[in-house]
Amino acid sequence: MRTYLVTGGAGFIGSNYIHYMFEKYGDEIRIINVDALTYAGNLENLKDIENRANYTFVKADITDKDAIAAIFENNDIDRVVHFAAESHVDRSIKNPEVFVKTNVLGTAVMLNCAKAAWELPDGSFKENKKFLHVSTDEVYGSLPDDPDAYFYETSPIDPHSPYSSSKASSDLLVKAYMDTYKFPANITNCSNNYGPYQFPEKLIPLIINNALQGKKLPVYGDGKNVRDWLYVMDHAKAIDMVQEQGKLFERYNIGGHNEKQNIEIIEIILDTLCEMLPDSDPRKAHINRELITYVTDRKGHDRRYAIAPDKIREDLGWEPETMFKDGIRLTIQWYFENEDWMKNVTSGDYQKYYNDMYAGR
Ligand code: NAD
Ligand code: DAU
Repeated sequence: MRTYLVTGGAGFIGSNYIHYMFEKYGDEIRIINVDALTYAGNLENLKDIENRANYTFVKADITDKDAIAAIFENNDIDRVVHFAAESHVDRSIKNPEVFVKTNVLGTAVMLNCAKAAWELPDGSFKENKKFLHVSTDEVYGSLPDDPDAYFYETSPIDPHSPYSSSKASSDLLVKAYMDTYKFPANITNCSNNYGPYQFPEKLIPLIINNALQGKKLPVYGDGKNVRDWLYVMDHAKAIDMVQEQGKLFERYNIGGHNEKQNIEIIEIILDTLCEMLPDSDPRKAHINRELITYVTDRKGHDRRYAIAPDKIREDLGWEPETMFKDGIRLTIQWYFENEDWMKNVTSGDYQKYYNDMYAGR
C-alpha cells in the first residue's frame, strides 16, 4: 500500500486532490494530511473522509522541522504531494514575509526531511519514492495580449509579486535538490483553478458570494486581465498522472486552454446564476450587471497568463476534461448547496480582511 504525505490538504486544491485520490484508489492507498490550518485551511472540506481508516490528519506547520521529521520517522512515506503554501497574491502584496517563510523555508524543510528519510548511505535514494512540488504558472511572469504567446516549461522564470517570487524560489529549491542530489521529484506549474471549497478571497467564489448577497463586484483595473481557468478535479488528475507516469526530474505545465478576461468571467457567473436560480428565489432579483464596480488595480497586476499544456498532453495523454460552462455550473451548484460552509469561512477574520482589502477601492 502506497503511503502519501500530502501537505496543505485542508486547503482548496489539497482537499479536492484528497477526494480525488480516495475516489480513484479507495483502500489501496493511505494518506497523511499535514496542515497548519491557517485561515485558508478548513477541516470541514474533509468531513466526509475524516473517519476513513486509511486517512490521518496531523496539525503541523511545514516550517517546523521536528514535527515534519517525526512524520517521516514514524511512517514509511512513498509519495509527498506538496501543496501547503500561502496562496493569495493580494495578501502577499500587503504582507510578504509569511510567504517567504511558508513557501520557501517550508519547502526547504519538506525537501530536507524527505531527503533524510529516503537517502541511502551511498547517496542514492530508496526505490520508488517520489516528491511532487505543486507550483503555479505565475512563476513565468506575464504574457502580452498576443493570442500566440504561451508559457512553456522552457519559458524564463520571471515572477513579479511576492507570492509568485516565493513560489519561484521554492521551484528553484526543488530543482537544486534534483540537480545536486538526484532527489526524485517533479514540479508542476498550473494555471488558475476553480471549483468547490475555494476560499472566497479568490475571484470566482468572491463574485458568486457577493452576487448572491447583492454586494458590489470589485473588478481590478480595466477588467481585461486574462487568466487560464482549470477545473480543480482536472488538476488533481494531472498531479496523479505526473507522479505515477511522468518522467522524474521533469517539470510539467498544467492548463485548461481556457483563457478569459476577468470581466468575461464575471459576466458568465452572473448569467449562470440567473439561469440556475428559480424566479421564486429572492436572491435573483438583485443579481445584475450594475453590481460590477471597477476599483483600483492590483499593484504589479500581471496582464495575461496562458499555459501551453503540450508536454503533459503529448507525454502523458492528459487533457482538461471539464468545459468551463460545465465546471462553473458544478461550482455554483456546490456553493448553493454549501451555504453554511460559506457563512463559516466568511465570518470573523475574513470579514475584517475583506473590509481592509477593499477599503478605498
Ligand atoms: P489554499 O490557500 O486554499 O490552501 C493552502 C493550504 O496550506 C491551507 O490548508 C493552509 O492551512 C495550508 N498551509 C498554509 N501555510 C502552512 C504551513 N506553514 N504549514 C502547513 N500548512 C500550511 O491554496 P490552494 O489554492 O489550494 O493552493 C495549493 C497549492 O497550489 C499552492 O502551493 C499554490 O501555490 C498552488 N497553486 C494554486 C493555484 C490556484 O489557482 N489556487 C494554481 C496553481 C498552483
Ligand atoms: O495562476 C495561478 C494562480 O491563480 C495561483 O498560483 C494563485 O495561488 C491563485 O490565487 C491565482 O492567482 P490570481 O491572482 O490569478 O487569482 P485571483 O482569484 O486572486 O484573481 C484572479 C484575477 O481576478 C486577477 O487578475 C485579479 C482579478 N481580481 C481578483 C479579485 C480577488 C479582481 O478583479 N477582483 C477581485 O476582487
